[in-house]
Amino acid sequence: MKNLKFHFSLIFLAAFIFSSCNKEETSFTVNSPDTNISVEFTLSKAGQPLYMVNHKSKTVIDTSFMSFDFKDLPALKDNFKVVSTSSNTVNEDWDMPWGEQLTVNNNYNELVVNLEEQSEAKRLLNIHFKVYNDGVGFRYEFPEQANLKEVLITDENTEFNLTGDHKVWWIPGDWDIYEHLYSETKFSEIDALSKRNHENLAATYIPENAVNTPVTMKTTDGLYLSFHEADLTNYSGMTLKVNYKNLKMVSELVGSDRLSGKAKLTLPFNTPWRTIQISEKAGDLIESKMVLNLNDPNEIGDVSYFTPMKYVGIWWEMHIGKSTWDMEGSQDMNTWTEGKSATSKHGATTENAKKYIDFASQNGIKGLLVEGWNTGWDKWLSDADAREGLFDFMTPYADYNFDEVMNYAKEKGVEVIMHHETSAAPLTYEKQMDEAYKFMKVNGINSVKTGYVGQIIPKGEYHHGQWMVNHYHKVLEEAAKMKIAVNAHEPIKATGKRRTYPNAISREGLRGQEFNAWATDGGNPPNHISIVAFTRMLSGPIDFTPGVFNIKFDEYKKDNQVNTTLAHQLALYVVIYSPIQMACDLPEHYMVDGKVHPAFKFISDVGVDWQQSKVLDGEIGDYVTIARQERGTGNWFVGGVTDENERSQSVTFDFLETGKTYKATIYKDAATAHWDNNPQAYEIEEMKVTNESTINVKLAPGGGFAISIMQE
Ligand code: NOJ
Ligand code: CA
Repeated sequence: MKNLKFHFSLIFLAAFIFSSCNKEETSFTVNSPDTNISVEFTLSKAGQPLYMVNHKSKTVIDTSFMSFDFKDLPALKDNFKVVSTSSNTVNEDWDMPWGEQLTVNNNYNELVVNLEEQSEAKRLLNIHFKVYNDGVGFRYEFPEQANLKEVLITDENTEFNLTGDHKVWWIPGDWDIYEHLYSETKFSEIDALSKRNHENLAATYIPENAVNTPVTMKTTDGLYLSFHEADLTNYSGMTLKVNYKNLKMVSELVGSDRLSGKAKLTLPFNTPWRTIQISEKAGDLIESKMVLNLNDPNEIGDVSYFTPMKYVGIWWEMHIGKSTWDMEGSQDMNTWTEGKSATSKHGATTENAKKYIDFASQNGIKGLLVEGWNTGWDKWLSDADAREGLFDFMTPYADYNFDEVMNYAKEKGVEVIMHHETSAAPLTYEKQMDEAYKFMKVNGINSVKTGYVGQIIPKGEYHHGQWMVNHYHKVLEEAAKMKIAVNAHEPIKATGKRRTYPNAISREGLRGQEFNAWATDGGNPPNHISIVAFTRMLSGPIDFTPGVFNIKFDEYKKDNQVNTTLAHQLALYVVIYSPIQMACDLPEHYMVDGKVHPAFKFISDVGVDWQQSKVLDGEIGDYVTIARQERGTGNWFVGGVTDENERSQSVTFDFLETGKTYKATIYKDAATAHWDNNPQAYEIEEMKVTNESTINVKLAPGGGFAISIMQE
C-alpha cells in the first residue's frame, strides 16, 4: 500500500521474546513492546487452552479458558497439545484517508499457538495474540484440516476473568439495538434484564444478563479496561455474559432462530479479535488505535469521492413533530409504532429542501440530508408483512421534485446525502441496491445514510447476528464498488472495519440526539456524552447529530428537551469524532433577529477531518476535554463537556506550535447558564494565545465550551 511505511518487521525465534516456563513447554508469554503488558498462554493439565493478562506487576485478567460448542460435534475445549508456536514483531505507520489523526502507528508483538486435539479426529485450532502498548487482541483461527469442514457454532466460550469488582459503564447485551442509556454500577450489580422492553425501542431483545461492547471498567487501583472486538466479519456480534459470583465475563454470541445456533462457517476461517484496551489514564482509551490496527489495510483503494463534511437536513423537524416523513401522517416517533398522528405535514417538500440548501450555502455547511423524500413511509412502522417490499429507493413523493432539488443544490454548491430507510427489511434493500446506487451516482450523490428501524425480516434474525453482519458488509462492498460512502443507523457495532473499508464513514449505534426529541424517559441525561466518549466512541465514528440551539423546543413539544446547554452542543463537534457532523436544528432556530446566531460561527468554522487529536483531560461519566488539529489548515479546535455538575476546566495550549500567535474564540456557558433553568445562555470571548497560554473555563451544570484557535 502506498502509505505503508515499514520501520521494521522482524520474525523472531519463539525463544527470543517468549519465556517458556517449567510447565512442559505448555506455557508461553508475549509482552507488549514497552513490556508493561504481558499475556501468558497455557494449556492446563487437561489440555485446555487458557490465558492471563498482566499489567506491570498486577494481574488484570486471571486464568480464563477458551472453548467452542458446536451443533452435532463434540466441543473443542480440551485434550489439546501445542504443535508449534511462532512469533512476530511489527512496527509500522499507516495513513488514514480521513480520521481523527493522519498517521497511525501499529506496533505489537505477536504469538501464534498452533494446537492439535489428541483425539482421533486431531482437530486443529490456532490462537493468535497481539500485544500492544495499549492492550491485547486475540483471535481464533480454524485452519483448513482433514476432519473438520463446516461448523455451526452454538457457543463461543471466551472467558474474561476479572480480578476485582470493578466499576463498569455498560449497556445491556441487546441482540437488536445499542440505543440504551449507559449505567454506572459495580460489576456485581450489573442487571441487564432490568433494561428489557424499553417503550421507545422498535426492536429490542435482551435474552440474559449480558452487556454489549465496548464495555469500559475502572479498577480500584485506577486502571482502565475496555472490552470489545475487532474485524467482525462473517460472524455474530459478541455480547459478554455476566457471572457476578465469580467476577467473570464469558462471550455470548448473538444467535439466529433460523440457524438454531450462533454462527455457521466453512473452514478455514478466523473469528473476530477479542480486544482488551488497558490504560492508566481514561483519555488514553480514546487515543488508542488498537481496534483499528487489528483490521486489515484498505482494500477498496481511493475514497476521495467522499469528503468529510458538516451537513444540515430535513430531519430534526420530524423528530420534534413539526413535520412527518410520510405524506399520509401515520407514524408516531414517540413509540416507533404505527398509527398515532392523524395529519400529514410532509417535511420533504421541494420548497423546504431549498430552504435548507439556502441556509447551508450561506453558512459554510457543505451537505444536505433529506429524509422522507421517497415513497413507503406510510407503513414503515407496520408489522413484518407490510414492511417487505414497502420502500422504493428511486421514487420520490409527489411534492418532492427530485431533479429540481438536485439542480438547486448544485447551483448553490451543496452536496446532497441520500437517505435509505429500509425499515429492517434487508432483502427488499438488497434487491434494489444495485439500481438505487446507480440512481445515486447518475445524480452525483456520493454518500448514503441507511436505517434499519424495527424487527428484522425474516423473523428469527437479529440486527447483531451473523446474517445481518453479512448484510451490513454486503452494503459496504456494493457501495464501495459504486464509490459510495455509508453512514448506517441501527447498524452493527463498529469494529475498526473503516480501516479496510474506508467508505464506512460513520454510524449511529448508540442513543443519539433523537432521543431528546421523543424519549418518554426524559431523554439523554447531562452526563451522557462523558460516558459515550469512553465507551461507544472507542469503537469508531458516531453520527450523533449535534447542534440543537433551541434547547426546549416548547413550540413543538412541552415534555421533551435537550438536557445540555447550548455551549455543550457546540463542544460535541470536537468531543465526538465523525467525518460527517450534522448541524441538526431547524434553520429558523439558528437565526436571531434575521441574522444567523453568533454561536453558529463555531459550527461554520469547526473542522471535520483531523491531523491529530489529543484528550486533554477527562474522567468517565464526569467530563471530557479534547483538542483536535484540522488537516490542511493547521487550526485547532477544543471541546469540553461536563455532566450535571458545574466545574472549572483549565486548558493549557502547549499543543500549539512554538513561537506562533493564534486567535482563540471561546464559546462558553454564561455565568447563569444551567442545562435546565437557563440552557441557552452563552458568552463569546476572543483572545490571542501561544503555546505558553493557559486559561480557565467555567462549565455550567450540563454545560460545555468550544474554542476555535486559528493561525494568525
Ligand atoms: C432512526 C434514525 O436513527 C434516525 O436518524 C432516522 O431519522 C429515522 N430512523 C428514520 O429513518
Ligand atoms: Ca436510531
